Amino acid sequence: MTISGRTVVAGVAGSPVTHSLSPLIHNAWLAGAGIDGVYVAFSPAEDGFARFVDGLRGGAVRGLNVTIPFKETALVLADEVSARARAAQAANLLVFEPDGRVRADNTDGLGMLGALAAQAPGFQPQAGPIALLGAGGAARGAAAALIAAGAPEVRIVNRTLEKAQTVAADVGGSCAAFPLEAAAAAFEGVAAVINATPAGLAGRAAFEAPLEATPETAVVMDMVYQPLVTPLLAKAQALGRRTVDGLEMLVRQAAPSFEAFYGAAPPEGVDVRCLALTALERPRP
Ligand code: ATR
Repeated sequence: MTISGRTVVAGVAGSPVTHSLSPLIHNAWLAGAGIDGVYVAFSPAEDGFARFVDGLRGGAVRGLNVTIPFKETALVLADEVSARARAAQAANLLVFEPDGRVRADNTDGLGMLGALAAQAPGFQPQAGPIALLGAGGAARGAAAALIAAGAPEVRIVNRTLEKAQTVAADVGGSCAAFPLEAAAAAFEGVAAVINATPAGLAGRAAFEAPLEATPETAVVMDMVYQPLVTPLLAKAQALGRRTVDGLEMLVRQAAPSFEAFYGAAPPEGVDVRCLALTALERPRP
């Protein structure tokens, strides 16, 4: 890759950020498309994100993906906020306009729906209630995206019931809250179960989800992608349920960001999923 006087710079900001797969994905797409651009990782001080964003106003970089712990702050700092970012109360994408304005968006919902469509062909969010595990930022964005996509009901299942109730009330639509102990009841008749908690992430305990209570037609998705087949997905597969993994969501949320930064859709034929899998399998320091 040659860096020129016209190279378009974008990147991801988070803390920690060094293990992010986004640079790998975006730079592979840039190389495949022959675009004069680069995508780098930034690690602003945890209390210095506002300063960092201010310094980029006017187009020092074209845009940023934003990850933990800056997604909520990113929304507040932006001058323009898309409806889906507002609904999620978080932004994973900031675009810096030449006039100094900053636009915030959230592509996580698109990534989730895209992953479902890709790995569970024929799945329709309108097909039935959807059980969502968790009530943090990821769950909030997912619930809003599912309601917007026509889900007749979203059942938010969380360890702390009060948090589930807050998210259900904020998102509105047909959202209901369930404590984790009532997961079996929440799973009855669902079209899908989606995990939006970090449970099952490498090295962390997974919870025992009573997937037996789901209909045979239910799709089970995990936003965690390390390991690729989480204990939840392994159990779903053992029960014969269709599954959708978090890596597909990661790749699919990246595509609209790429387009926002570089003005072109990701090129066909670059297997970023395979590259990401290889990177995940390598022991990382
Ligand atoms: P994010 O912004 O990535 O969604 P978060 O805001 O920290 O992360 O939210 C994490 C969610 O996962 C919470 O809903 C949390 O449950 P609580 O509200 O009870 O804290 C849930 N969570 C985390 N670890 C969990 C575990 N081991 N079992 C069940 N739920 C878990």
